[in-house]
Amino acid sequence: MRFLDLILKKRDGESLSPEEISFIIQEYNQGSIPDYQMSSLLMAIFFQGLNNRETSAFTAALAESGEVLDFASLGKIVADKHSSGGVGDKVTIILAPLVAAAGVPVAKISGRGLGFTGGTIDKLESIPGFSANLTVREFSQLVRDNDLAIMAQTDSITPAEGKLYALRDVTGTVENISLIAASIMSKKIAAGAGAILLDVKTGRGAFMHSKEEAFHLSETMVRIGKEMGRKVVSVVTDMSQPLGFAVGNALEIKEAMAVLKGEGPQDVEQLCLFLGGIMLALAGKVRNPEDGQKELARLLKNGVALEKFKQMIASQGGNLEYLDNTELLPKASCIELVKAPKSGYLKESDALRVGRVAVSLGAGRSVKGEAIDPGVGVLLTHKVGDHVDEGEILASLQGNNEEILSASVKELSNAFLIVDEKIEPLPMIHGVVPPFPS
Ligand code: URA
Repeated sequence: MRFLDLILKKRDGESLSPEEISFIIQEYNQGSIPDYQMSSLLMAIFFQGLNNRETSAFTAALAESGEVLDFASLGKIVADKHSSGGVGDKVTIILAPLVAAAGVPVAKISGRGLGFTGGTIDKLESIPGFSANLTVREFSQLVRDNDLAIMAQTDSITPAEGKLYALRDVTGTVENISLIAASIMSKKIAAGAGAILLDVKTGRGAFMHSKEEAFHLSETMVRIGKEMGRKVVSVVTDMSQPLGFAVGNALEIKEAMAVLKGEGPQDVEQLCLFLGGIMLALAGKVRNPEDGQKELARLLKNGVALEKFKQMIASQGGNLEYLDNTELLPKASCIELVKAPKSGYLKESDALRVGRVAVSLGAGRSVKGEAIDPGVGVLLTHKVGDHVDEGEILASLQGNNEEILSASVKELSNAFLIVDEKIEPLPMIHGVVPPFPS
């Protein structure tokens, strides 16, 4: 097989066979195909697309490029969840222990944040001592022992996906539904879970700006998962305003703790119960998601989910003193406030602007590998639809650099729009694919 012939084939609109796709991924993973040729193929795929058969073959080849975990010997269905990324998205931190507390093992491999959305691993690492740099062996053992572990992405799982994603990032070939679906699903398949819940976010603060794209991506990923023998449900959720009130690593840990104590923002709690109910049903623990939600609400209320979270943090080296007294978590030294310029109803709380401000304060990275500041971020006070009075605080910016902090106040002020007419709260869930049960 000549790689150039495969580029020409795709450029001219023909489809590639599973054998050809497997060859492409294997050779690229081994370093036998130069980046300039792979970039050319990616651009041909970007314009010509991949059909369903090609997308599935692409996913399988990426998944098989490294270790593929198998939890079959556990005798229970292991669950996993994936979010396409959003501002203030601390759902995994709450949902993983919540579902594990119900007796469904959760094995979660997460990424670090890049761009305006935060990463679960960065948030958890704001708890002193906590480490997600587990080996596959340590990860599997924790899932067996505690029904719960969260590990940072490693090169031993889907290495070809990692290389390809880095290349797509710099060649303008990220925004293709087939490539995104294959990228996400290959990592989920390799991580070994039998029940996979996908949270595809849509809106200004999300990767998928339109609902149509979010549903198309959901349908593609659900189809791939089904073909590969996994139970998959995708929920399209709103990300036009940040989730909850806290944006920033330690701030989000504090908010996640509040939710686990039943004292957190309603939108975060409700989303966790909604997604968790589906996970329990997918794993066969309950008859339907509604029963799952009831069970999870009980586990939040009686403190069992919080204990599960603490067990996970302690098992991965975290110092529980910081959870027992969250005031000890890293904090910023300076605070600036954004106040409402007039009375009225909050129409916009722009997740993209809030996310960018949090990154500029140091909560996220502008380039891969950059250090982050765990204590900084933005604390909001209202949700879209709320009434606010002139001069009322809309947000506090928490930073360690006064110059950046004052420059960020104006940018954050532009995130809010207050209008005279009454505004309805934003819907949180746009739809479920496939509608449950399938
Ligand atoms: N997230 C992923 O994991 N892969 C993509 O291609 C895009 C978003």
